[in-house]
Amino acid sequence: MVAKTQFGLEELLAAELKSIGATDIELLTRAVKYRGDMAVLYKSNLLLRTALKVLVPFTSFYAHHENQLYKRVQQTDWSQLMSPNQTLAIDATTNSEIFHHSKFTALKTKDAIVDQFRGRFGIRPSIDTENPDLRLNVHIHDKLVTLSLDSSGNTLDRRAYRLNRTEAPINEVLAAGIVMLAGWQGDTTLLDPMCGSGTFSIEAAMLAANIAPGKRRSFGFERWPNFDGELWSKIKAEAVQAERKFTGRILCSDLDPTAVNIAEQNARRAGVERMIDFRTDDFFEAKALEETGTLLFNPPYGERLQEDDIVAFYKEIGNQLKHQFPGHTAWIISANAEALKHVGLRPTRKIKLFNGSLECRLQKFELFAGKKGEAKPS
Ligand SMILES: C[S@@+](CC[C@H](N)C(=O)[O-])C[C@H]1O[C@@H](n2cnc3c(N)ncnc32)[C@H](O)[C@@H]1O
Repeated sequence: MVAKTQFGLEELLAAELKSIGATDIELLTRAVKYRGDMAVLYKSNLLLRTALKVLVPFTSFYAHHENQLYKRVQQTDWSQLMSPNQTLAIDATTNSEIFHHSKFTALKTKDAIVDQFRGRFGIRPSIDTENPDLRLNVHIHDKLVTLSLDSSGNTLDRRAYRLNRTEAPINEVLAAGIVMLAGWQGDTTLLDPMCGSGTFSIEAAMLAANIAPGKRRSFGFERWPNFDGELWSKIKAEAVQAERKFTGRILCSDLDPTAVNIAEQNARRAGVERMIDFRTDDFFEAKALEETGTLLFNPPYGERLQEDDIVAFYKEIGNQLKHQFPGHTAWIISANAEALKHVGLRPTRKIKLFNGSLECRLQKFELFAGKKGEAKPS
């Protein structure tokens, strides 16, 4: 199997895979390759916090031109995988001199499949890109074509709790990854002071209470002909049994009351609202309630602000941290490298990540306890 993820989260994903019994784990860029049985496949979708989708490669071959691709795709008996009255979607990714256009590749593959059905049964499956019965992935590297079944269906960042979004939300997989990169496991208070739609807080609560990220959604494999309903029910029941009580503290706040309201609604949908304290607060007026804690920030990156304003904003974050949060650890993700410099504290870790297509840095700042002036300047 291949679990896809975001750049920078591969090692976390490999560790998650190990914990669910995957073997032969191999790190790739933005993905991890591994082996496992049907139970591992089902658990991968239900339990992995840092996976975006789980593919099951089932055939690969060389194709030198598009007609060869068409012919080779027809060598699979597609009626083993779906019936002609079901629906199909095809995602293609290409990294090839010959097959430049992923859309065209997907189209050619689709033609080969539907033509086979039409020839054999007189009817053909129709295409449904949103909610298909079978989602197929075609990957072409140079001339090597790999066909995989997409066992996830919708990507796994769609956990079905975030129906309402504020502006520029961070995706759930990245948010979970950042909570995990920060090493937070529920032992210290977590502060999410610019919470937007609450993604950090919700992912942190689900992690701390060991709630399966896929608990509230369905998956592609549930519509496969070989779907083992009994095994699936058992795995889901085990996941519920493995949930634990979280007795720590998560503080979720934002300057904007609408954002706080949205975060609260999302948390309710995720079933974690009782684990989180919601407040409307300006971070620049906030004070630490405890001596230690972990702060996670995804501040505005400044696309809509004047350069001076965004620099002043990041400076102010640094000042607040320095003066009000000694003893705490702060993690800030931003695509604005220049603004990050103005936090004015020396980062003790820098991790490259992507928020959508934006290259970002996640930086760690350790605020030293002691007199206010003793925070380590940059
Ligand atoms: C990029 S969004 C955060 C998105 C969030 N991570 C999510 O997943 O939805 C930045 C947030 O910072 C908030 N914000 C801006 N200035 C603030 C301040 N002084 N205090 C608290 N929140 C602030 C904005 O209201 C906005 O919701």
